[in-house]
Amino acid sequence: MSDRVVIFDTTLRDGEQSPGATMNQDEKLRLARQLEILGVDVIEAGFPAASEGDFQAVKAIAAAVKGVQVAGLCRALPSDITRCFEAIKGAQNPRIHTFLATSPLHMRHKLNKSPEQVLEMLQAGVTLAASLTPNVEFSCEDASRSERDFLAVAVEKAIACGATTINIPDTVGYAQPQEFYDLIKFLLATVPNASKAVFSVHCHNDLGLAAANTLAALAAGARQAEVTLCGIGERAGNASLEEVVMALKTRSCLYNLETGVKGEQIYPSSRLLSMIIGQPIPPYKPIIGGNAFAHESGIHQAGVLKCPETYEIMTPQSVGRAGNEMVLGKHSGRNAVKARLEELGFALTEEQVTQMTEAVKQLADKKKNIFSEDLEALVLEDIYRLPDKYKLRKLSVLSGNMGVSPVAAVVLEVDGREEKLSSFGVGPIDAVFNTISQLTSRSPVLKQYAVNAVTSGTDAQGEVTVRLEEGGHKSVGRGSDADVIVASAKAYVNALNRLAKKEEERECATL
Ligand code: KIV
Ligand code: ZN
Repeated sequence: MSDRVVIFDTTLRDGEQSPGATMNQDEKLRLARQLEILGVDVIEAGFPAASEGDFQAVKAIAAAVKGVQVAGLCRALPSDITRCFEAIKGAQNPRIHTFLATSPLHMRHKLNKSPEQVLEMLQAGVTLAASLTPNVEFSCEDASRSERDFLAVAVEKAIACGATTINIPDTVGYAQPQEFYDLIKFLLATVPNASKAVFSVHCHNDLGLAAANTLAALAAGARQAEVTLCGIGERAGNASLEEVVMALKTRSCLYNLETGVKGEQIYPSSRLLSMIIGQPIPPYKPIIGGNAFAHESGIHQAGVLKCPETYEIMTPQSVGRAGNEMVLGKHSGRNAVKARLEELGFALTEEQVTQMTEAVKQLADKKKNIFSEDLEALVLEDIYRLPDKYKLRKLSVLSGNMGVSPVAAVVLEVDGREEKLSSFGVGPIDAVFNTISQLTSRSPVLKQYAVNAVTSGTDAQGEVTVRLEEGGHKSVGRGSDADVIVASAKAYVNALNRLAKKEEERECATL
């Protein structure tokens, strides 16, 4: 009989703390819905006491998702705990996740408290949390650098005060797998009331061991893993959901542990996150990276053709990645598009499937072969894009080396009104960006511009990422199109929409 591991996803909390990964409320909601489809057990939606924006986002997620627990993080302080509960109480199954540092370093230098004072705070905090909801998680921050005997006392106290999940974080990514295994074994064997709580782990990746430490802890008896999509998180990130889940699946005979995660939703979920935060998935990233299932050497290719298991320990389809074959074309009908979308793990409404069928036909006019990646880019572009203040309607560009100054003509919808302008630039992209910034009366600084081909071939769709900064606020935008100039304009407009959205949220928060 295999045991069930609770998958606690903290992409929206620890993940969002990673540089450049901030999301607005609509984006968080979109991702939370996808996490529910992915099949995680708990969504840590944010840190409600951190800001009004965080509070509102957690509240909105708690109201929106149904079949999944919603956790809010809070320090073990009465004001944080009550604020957290206010934000999550609308969820079907709300969880208060409260934490307090237990390592000598953190207690002395960060909290300026004695171990006895820390135990008093812990007792008061967990008792208060347990009076609000029966679903309470307590984390001993910096557990891996805490003194074992003190850690055991803290854990026992937290359980006695009503914590039902005990989280043992490797906050600074310091632990080694064997050591972390021993620590979990020690706690399970030593803490007298250990059987009354689920033991959880939360590992950071500073030494590249987050997934290994998580798996070691699960082997030792922990039954909750705290993970993030693509491993995003503070500094070097957290244990990545896809690595932990796929290790448990691929080596099920070794671990004998199950999760509720639907493997085929892993890649669509990671791509959605990547699109939202505007950070491409690195090609070498296990499971979800562009190269993860690519076989370059002739020997490997020959082996895979004869028998895929020679060099593939899991299939691309099992994580929601179809092969790189041609999938659709000009004559593909609605049913073919629908079937392909389902294979890729996108659960769309009938109306959205019709919209995609139309988009496929339009793309097929520009590009002969349509691959899975193209279809995916279309879904991310046309379906998952949020309602925007600015919409790109038309674009035309003249450039070249025949003595004309590059010029762009743009038709943009601004708050429902159509605006037109043409303007010059040093190059075609500069001309497009200048024109759009004049039309929107914004003057952001372009911090980064990157273009990437979605598939191979000169007719491949271009996927553009831009990073903007305006008045100290940053945003990223993504756009894809068979024409890279149009993709660039879409990415630029997308980044401006994000800046506008953040402004709106700041205004609401100060009302
Ligand atoms: O890394 C950490 O210790 C944390 C806790 C708040 C769980 O993120
Ligand atoms: Zn963390």
